[in-house]
Amino acid sequence: MSAPVPKPQANMGEPIARREARAKVTGAARYAADMPVANPAHAYLVTSTIGRGRVLGFNEAPARAVPGVLAVMTHANRPKLQEVKHFFAGGQGLTAVPPLAGPEVHHDGQIVAMVVAETYEAAREAAHRLGVRYERQAPAATFGSKGLVEQRTAEVLKERKDPALGDAEAGFRAAAAVVDAQYGTPTQHHNPIELFATTAHWLGDELTVYEPSQFVYGLRTGLAEQLGMPPEKIRVVNDFVGGAFGSKGALTQRTALVALAARQLGRPVKLVATRDQGFTISGHRHETRHRVRLGATREGRFTAYQHDIWELNGRTDPYVNGGIENSAAMYAFPAVASTGRMVRADRNPPIFMRSPPEVPVMYALESAIDELAVRLSMDPVELRRRNDTDRNWVTGKPYTSRSLMQCYDAASEAFGWRRRNPQPGSMREGDWLVGWGCATATYPTQMSPAVARVRLAADGTARVEIAAHDVGTGAYTVIGQMAAQCLSLSPERVAVTIGDSVLPPGPVSGGSVTTASACSAVKLACDQILARLGLAGGVDEPQRKAAFEKLQLGAIEETGNYVPASSRSKSTAGLYSGSVDISGGANMENGVKTMFAFGAEFVEVRVHARTREIRVPRIVGAFAAGRIMNPRTAHSQLMGGMIWGIGSALHEFTEIDTREARYINDNLAEYLVPVNADIRQVDVIFVPEVDQEANPVGAKGIGELANVGTAAAVANAVFHATGRRIRELPITVDKLI
Ligand code: MOS
Repeated sequence: MSAPVPKPQANMGEPIARREARAKVTGAARYAADMPVANPAHAYLVTSTIGRGRVLGFNEAPARAVPGVLAVMTHANRPKLQEVKHFFAGGQGLTAVPPLAGPEVHHDGQIVAMVVAETYEAAREAAHRLGVRYERQAPAATFGSKGLVEQRTAEVLKERKDPALGDAEAGFRAAAAVVDAQYGTPTQHHNPIELFATTAHWLGDELTVYEPSQFVYGLRTGLAEQLGMPPEKIRVVNDFVGGAFGSKGALTQRTALVALAARQLGRPVKLVATRDQGFTISGHRHETRHRVRLGATREGRFTAYQHDIWELNGRTDPYVNGGIENSAAMYAFPAVASTGRMVRADRNPPIFMRSPPEVPVMYALESAIDELAVRLSMDPVELRRRNDTDRNWVTGKPYTSRSLMQCYDAASEAFGWRRRNPQPGSMREGDWLVGWGCATATYPTQMSPAVARVRLAADGTARVEIAAHDVGTGAYTVIGQMAAQCLSLSPERVAVTIGDSVLPPGPVSGGSVTTASACSAVKLACDQILARLGLAGGVDEPQRKAAFEKLQLGAIEETGNYVPASSRSKSTAGLYSGSVDISGGANMENGVKTMFAFGAEFVEVRVHARTREIRVPRIVGAFAAGRIMNPRTAHSQLMGGMIWGIGSALHEFTEIDTREARYINDNLAEYLVPVNADIRQVDVIFVPEVDQEANPVGAKGIGELANVGTAAAVANAVFHATGRRIRELPITVDKLI
């Protein structure tokens, strides 16, 4: 069964199929670990079995005795590396701690050695035979553990201010109803199907790295710093990335180790880390705790919003999500108070995971809004409507476009919301308690600097080159569509090359920026071509051909640079030098306008009256995100986002053995995500929206939009079904008994 192909509406491109679809389903698509290299050696990581302490020594003899072993790299013999900076300190590193830096163990699963052998099997065997002696200290695992250190985020990261507006306490005093509640979200792991793989291959002093990355330029820059070599001598390639969600956005420790081993051995080295190692050698979505206070008048006008957040971090790096600057922009909040805190434990460094701050922060806010609606005996959609706004009250800046209530109208109509009996527990079918809930989806519209090279050839074909990435989203397809549309070519006449650091620098594939940034750069490059052809006012095929013949050119090549306003003053070190600012658009960060995509999600849950089993028979989401480049690929992203949201509400969390600060369910059998049997009807509705200020193509980005708010919608529906408010995710059967 497949979903019908969505028809394009106003301000949407054609719903063409992905250009790599056939390559993917036939296995022709090559991922990083598939890239052929001659005579590779194979690496296997050894990771710590303690959560905190020191390595006292190794017993290498049993490992070295395994036939085919070529090298055992530890902190005692690792070749020299330069320092690497954390990405919050202007660098590219997941952590500022160098790999195999010394005997200190900062977290369970830290890389303590790497074995290289003729075969994968020999490397694995030797890795398991390597003796490691530790001096163990008791680690602090999570909230409530002994030995945590709490810091105010604004003191650690000076640029992170706690959003504030007016007198919140006065607002709460003036309120007719106040909700004051605490919410919690768990550790989650991205678990992309493609494992964390790295192949390093030297040719003289030039290094090629095949690694799935959301930012080949960033990886190149960071690795060049670490290896003390010019970035131009490193090439990072990935044709396809088999899922990332944030986990492949930063330089992890493994890459330099594989590069060093390949240099030492004088042959290519390939590493494919195991699924369980992936839980600790990259990042994760960290635990959060929230206190939310929300006040409103009897008529349902918000009087004040307070949000305090605690974010669990490792001890070595300064990562936080924040996110209250976004949630505070959602509604007409006349007063806002907030604090952010970083809580240090003995854990691997966290990193962005799909809609990093919005998922936990909006879960808390949208749950609190539902709780407030119950106190006010008001429909939760109506409560949101009464507080809809055309500006961010904290900054005073207007939205470029905002279609939140149109999304609520479309989704509630399709869902049949008006048939809802608001009384909790009132809707029942046999043994099943039926609950309906809703919440807002949102994601800020962000941009990344990007340069695209577009070449139009005399035979009426074009080539687009940009170091963007396809993390499974359809980037190849929409980038090609953009050029095809601008140049009046059919999409199959446009070749697209991405995922390679020899190409002009593309956007980081994070923050839902790829489509808006890459397509803007492509459009600007095409505009330059059209101008050179004298076709700036528009182009059709005969016009283009005539102009082409007149110029008698074999090919016309142009580079379009897109530098979003927010990046003007920021360093783009390692990126294309000489980028020019031709954005002309507003950016949520540049002090001009507020830019967000929006959606509204409605969920039906069924909770079994006796066993408390929870099911989600249907979910309806309506979304407005400016120009939709391709309604088919967009539909898939939004559907996938909602399914992930259901998983985040009901299934997904990483369990921790608090004695050793160790992840327990570090495999896909026990780390639960929704399977087909968990997901029934998922409806995606597009609400057409035009945004002429966001960026040159007016696209807002949808990669992270749809899984924001889903968890709150499910939690609100569970309350409606049962009268039980679950304030800690995931909502599992035991919490409802
Ligand atoms: Mo996404 S968490 O911005 O890679």
